[in-house]
Amino acid sequence: MTSGFENQVLTAWESNAASWIDAVSSGEIRAPGSVTREALLAVLEPYLASQLKFLDVGSGEGWLVEMLANRGHDAIGVDSSAALIEHAKKFRKGRFYNANQGSLAALQLGDFELVVCNFSLFGDKPVSDFIASLPFLLKPGGVCVIQTLHPAHFLKESYYSTGWRRGTWAGLPGAFGASPPLFMRTLESWWALFRACGIQIIDLKEPSDTSGIPQSIILTVSPSRN
Ligand SMILES: C[S@@+](CC[C@H](N)C(=O)[O-])C[C@H]1O[C@@H](n2cnc3c(N)ncnc32)[C@H](O)[C@@H]1O
Repeated sequence: MTSGFENQVLTAWESNAASWIDAVSSGEIRAPGSVTREALLAVLEPYLASQLKFLDVGSGEGWLVEMLANRGHDAIGVDSSAALIEHAKKFRKGRFYNANQGSLAALQLGDFELVVCNFSLFGDKPVSDFIASLPFLLKPGGVCVIQTLHPAHFLKESYYSTGWRRGTWAGLPGAFGASPPLFMRTLESWWALFRACGIQIIDLKEPSDTSGIPQSIILTVSPSRN
């Protein structure tokens, strides 16, 4: 059953790639000024002072990779959607690879000063495999910044527990089909996963909209050996 949900994540992103590209390019999502985009960029900014090797895991159509490549960083994006990677390779600056976040080692990309996952950790096993790979993906002193839905988001529709939830395109206009399910983790569950993988949380932000409702949670983590 679980692997069925994992497959639905991948097929939903593949089959909705064109609508996602339209939504990003028309500014319906990720537009400058939007709460979660600005909050992510504010967290990243202090790390960008010197040239670095940067990996965007679940890079989508490639906006962030291009932004960092334009600033002179060695920027790489990886995404499980072949269609999104094809688009990024054609239209975005940076290097792009089609792969699952759970098996990044096979790409032999080397190690990184900065790894980012912006709303791209959907599954159960691929996500725990990715977190377990961080001590090998990050250079000494390197960090991974993860932005994801705030666990409080799910209180509206279900009780607070770790497990699969139905997906939603969150009101995005356009011709979206079936949405990807999401393996929701409580904060305690995130912490247990990090601890089991030798990862520590070094910063945590809860960007809110003007009504005070958290739009996301941003976790900056690093291997405990750093
Ligand atoms: C909400 S989009 C975010 C895209 C991009 N990070 C951004 O900021 O616009 C989620 C992305 O995660 C990718 N994704 C989902 N599961 C993945 C997996 N197991 N491995 C690699 N990419 C994955 C999807 O294909 C999609 O491009």
